[in-house]
Amino acid sequence: MPFQTKLAELNERKRLSELGGGEERIAKQHASGKLTARERLELLLDPGSFVELDQFVQHRCTDFDMQNQKFLGDGVVTGYGTVHGRTIFVFSQDFTVFGGSLSGAHATKICKVMDLAVKAGAPIVGLNDSGGARIQEGVESLGGYAEIFWRNTQASGVIPQISVILGPCAGGAVYSPAITDFIFMVEGSSYLFVTGPDVIKTVTHEDVTKEALGGAETHSEKSGVTHFVLPSEQECLKSVRELLAYLPANNLDLPPKSSTADPADRLCPEIESVLPDSANKPYDMLGILRSVIDDGLFFEVHAGYAKNLVIGFARLAGKTVGIVGNQPSHLAGCLDIDASVKGARFVRFCDSFNIPLITFVDVPGFLPGTQQEYGGIIKHGAKLLYAFAEATVPKLTVITRKAYGGAYDVMASKHIRADFNFAYPTAEIAVMGPEGAINILYRKEIAAAEKAGTVVEERARLVDLYRRTFANPYKAAELGYIDEVIHPTDTRRRLITSLRTLEGKRERGPSRKHGNIPL
Ligand code: HXC
Repeated sequence: MPFQTKLAELNERKRLSELGGGEERIAKQHASGKLTARERLELLLDPGSFVELDQFVQHRCTDFDMQNQKFLGDGVVTGYGTVHGRTIFVFSQDFTVFGGSLSGAHATKICKVMDLAVKAGAPIVGLNDSGGARIQEGVESLGGYAEIFWRNTQASGVIPQISVILGPCAGGAVYSPAITDFIFMVEGSSYLFVTGPDVIKTVTHEDVTKEALGGAETHSEKSGVTHFVLPSEQECLKSVRELLAYLPANNLDLPPKSSTADPADRLCPEIESVLPDSANKPYDMLGILRSVIDDGLFFEVHAGYAKNLVIGFARLAGKTVGIVGNQPSHLAGCLDIDASVKGARFVRFCDSFNIPLITFVDVPGFLPGTQQEYGGIIKHGAKLLYAFAEATVPKLTVITRKAYGGAYDVMASKHIRADFNFAYPTAEIAVMGPEGAINILYRKEIAAAEKAGTVVEERARLVDLYRRTFANPYKAAELGYIDEVIHPTDTRRRLITSLRTLEGKRERGPSRKHGNIPL
């Protein structure tokens, strides 16, 4: 066969593969408001950087007349490319081929790029749009899923793994995204559920729509399964690129350094106007964070879920940091079950990937109530405590106002090995808040004042006494639990100096197979 003919054959095979399930199904995909697998990769990766692998793979199924229904590539586009010039591995499921369903061959393609990503020490991003297990292949498909789950688990803490849900993702298929580090969804077109509305109707007689059951809003606000929700696929993939810019390629790498015009010694006088005079007034912790970090740029994670705790990535002097902050404007910044779990997973991600942790504390304690106790706040709160305690990356803590009770210990206190602990002069570090404390300490005096009709004045006097004695940072500073009481305006430069000081920090936990975090 002449060379030109061979080239033509290759080109024709490539054309067919790139056509996926055909023009009609591509039109259907567009009509439903979704992009194709390849269009998505173009948006995710740097222009012209994508290198495709396994373009001609086909399924091996012969049941249900499947030998006569073959599509080159078998419903998933895999390979590698760059984002901001840095390598990532990718797979993008093609809904136009058997609804993006997972066959044995399709799974093998995904496994190949997962293995390569671990070998090369580069992140993997999966674009999911699939009807689940390829029904015609039965158990071969289930085996394929399990191969992916196993690799997700092995790669956890070794390379960043990101799942983007851009269509249906149902049944056991949800467990691959669930093991990965971050999940992105798009409003109105992404769904994640273990059992769909029809099965639910049959089993529990509940009527629920796909959207209400497993749509983006449900998972960003109710279940906390997804970390990011964007209004369109374009914005979603742009946001994935933004996240990747904060992350190192693997657990042996340091996060990338960006250039910034924001001076390292910039003062933050605006913090004074964020902090209220009254200890009981809410304020927005984001106001403090934004004034401290480079250019005020905060990449918030899980913004819609457990709003009483703020988590996300930022940079200080161009270097990535992970930020955890109590949010006094929501539930007074109390720690509850959802906030503890949200914070714990984030802290563990940062620790896995050499990202220093900066913790801003304003916490009146754990949220009281039977709902929390019955829900297991003990074991869930312990997750956050465990995560902070086991983290060996540089840990800096700033107490802006309240640090009460067990929550003081949990929020990266000196005792669980934070490296530098700072407090503002407005900090109140004590076993509990003044109102609760005086009720216990001065029960008799308060009862007598009630009889005498002077209870209001007496309570005010006792609260003031308690506040002056305990509700300040100086007891903790006397004990060395606070390294420095700082003026809020110095926060940025003090944090940056501390991070530079800790650049050589190398700490390892005891040798063991793994700890047993309370799950
Ligand atoms: C084979 C599938 C398929 C599947 C869809 N298709 N799902 N083919 N296996 N799982 C095919 C359809 O036959 C159709 O082919 C094309 O994909 C598009 O599907 P439509 O139904 O036309 O699209 P739409 O109306 O948008 O509905 C999408 C859908 C629906 C909601 C995903 O197709 C659906 O409910 N599919 C089945 C989902 C499911 O129950 N999967 C198994 C879940 S259990 P043509 O040729 O007409 O274009 C599971 C277990 C995993 O996944 C366990 C892991 C441990």
